[in-house]
Amino acid sequence: MIDRARLEELSAAERPLTPDECSALARAAAEHVDLAALDRQGEGSYELLWRNGSSEGWLNTWWEARDTGFHDHGGSCVGVYLLEGEARHETLTVGAARRVTGHVAGDAFSLDDAGIHRMEHERGAVTIHVYSPPLREIGHYEVVAGELRRHAGAPDEISPPSPELTAALAGDE
Ligand SMILES: [Fe+2]
Repeated sequence: MIDRARLEELSAAERPLTPDECSALARAAAEHVDLAALDRQGEGSYELLWRNGSSEGWLNTWWEARDTGFHDHGGSCVGVYLLEGEARHETLTVGAARRVTGHVAGDAFSLDDAGIHRMEHERGAVTIHVYSPPLREIGHYEVVAGELRRHAGAPDEISPPSPELTAALAGDE
């Protein structure tokens, strides 16, 4: 069960949040999610916890491993908190070593409003993502015929893997 009234109170704000405020809010929101009550059938799902003028929060369950591919958040920053399981977070680098960080339950991290990133969620990961301002679109990145392309997607659309771009980065190592 999720205490939505409490989440509405927690997330109420008069202005957009900073990246650190997003991750702090994700952590605070996690205290109002009952992990034992989650539906653990299927591949997993994503559920909107709140959306107001300042931010929106999503609870994501990953019962199968999933690679989000590289994407941006259309000008919103994001904070992530891991409630269960493990995930890797990679920011997109060009001409520099890859930047991948591993995270376990209890970790929080954030990305600024211009960042491009990718997450690999291990099977069984449970995360809360807070975006501020609320998502307008998500930009998906992939290499097509040697050129980097951005495809704009809806805020609630699953972010697809970007295998060509990821392979190109792996080739730089
Ligand atoms: Fe993201």
